[in-house]
Amino acid sequence: MDTIVIRGGAVLGGEVTVSGSKNAALPLLFSTLLTSRRCVIRNVPVLRDIRTAVAVLRHLGALVSPSRDGHEITVEARDISRSEAPYELVKTMRASFLVLGPLLARFGRARVSTPGGCAIGARPVDLHLTRLQKMGARIRLAEGYVEAEAERLRGAKIVLDMPSVGATQQLMMAASLAEGTTVIENAAREPENVCLAAALESMGARVRGAGTSEVTVDGRPELDGADVTVIPDRIEAGTYMVAAAITGGSILVAGARADHLDAFTAKLREAGVAVREGEGGIRVAAGRALGAADVKTMPHPGFPTDLQAQFMALMTQATGTSTITETIFENRFLHAQELVRMGAEIRADGNRAIVRGASALSGAPVMATDLRASVCLVLAGLAARGTTRVARVYHLDRGYERVEEKLRALGADIRREAATA
Ligand code: EPZ
Repeated sequence: MDTIVIRGGAVLGGEVTVSGSKNAALPLLFSTLLTSRRCVIRNVPVLRDIRTAVAVLRHLGALVSPSRDGHEITVEARDISRSEAPYELVKTMRASFLVLGPLLARFGRARVSTPGGCAIGARPVDLHLTRLQKMGARIRLAEGYVEAEAERLRGAKIVLDMPSVGATQQLMMAASLAEGTTVIENAAREPENVCLAAALESMGARVRGAGTSEVTVDGRPELDGADVTVIPDRIEAGTYMVAAAITGGSILVAGARADHLDAFTAKLREAGVAVREGEGGIRVAAGRALGAADVKTMPHPGFPTDLQAQFMALMTQATGTSTITETIFENRFLHAQELVRMGAEIRADGNRAIVRGASALSGAPVMATDLRASVCLVLAGLAARGTTRVARVYHLDRGYERVEEKLRALGADIRREAATA
């Protein structure tokens, strides 16, 4: 497993271009299973998780052709020979569970491994399953697999207990081939879901209310192909915004959409960071001093849980005490202890972490447990005195395209050490 090595202290400057959103590209790739026609997906990030999604589609029998640079993927799911997504692939990436709705809606059956938990939480899929049952699916759980059948899914009025991003995506896709109209109340409002809804619309389904808490989908007997462009990755953009703030620098995050990051930007400004939209992206400049700001993660449009770890790294450099409350996942403070090892003062208790700053961070060998915890440790390494070695970098490669190249181009002293055999 590769290691990222950072020598802290560089003040970042210049411009970084944000890639396509991982969390938009994944449901878009699985939505191609809804049709036999050709689908083209553009601005796809080149990431480990995308390669896994391509492997799942090919396992099912779809023809998948990435362009030479990997940023465009054409899918033709005409000859699907299997309707089973195996444990080996689903456990690698839980988003593969999103093949369930499309396979069930198009072929009337599916056998998909349950994704299981991960480092940040149990991550059940009960909302996906119970709401597909409301649409007429017969669901059986056996040997760690979901076995689902339905002659044809029926539109239904569905209320989600919580605005689950994945469940909303699963149900929007299933509903686009269901008989009649499906209403999803308490739907997730994330921009990635708006991107998926636009794709389903372009394929012939009628989707209203995407981005609001009530989404209505009129299903069709069959769908056309698609030619869609992935939205920019708001979490990657936010990560580089923190990189500028935590090093006292000033950068332009080109291609980022400010309207996807309102709550996050408000917190950066509260902490004294200058954030300005324009020049084809978001310009971020560290202010004279960083002040503590309290954060509570919430479903969109609230503060994104996927930027919680990055913001915690920043708060270790802010003067004062900040309280960070994680309301989405039950165990998403695993990065806190690693930050403490670098000299931060953080007390995590349940879903609340108290950060006392500003602390002088010193480089250390650290280890990450999930994608966002990994990048949080890289950000801390940028601000630390000395050298930080972040192990298990495969987490990073799942969600950040060429992270060390992009940071080096901004002036960071960072390199990747390949694992010795
Ligand atoms: C998506 O996960 C993202 N992943 C996550 O990003 C992100 O953190 C999360 O949404 C929240 O924004 C992708 O898009 C691939 P949820 P998802 O269903 O869909 C509970 C990253 O770093 N829940 O909104 O799995 C669940 O346990 C990843 O890129 C149920 O209880 O998130 C969690 O506590 C990490 N039952 C909460 O809802 C269900 O059936 C939110 O989960 C489904 C979810």
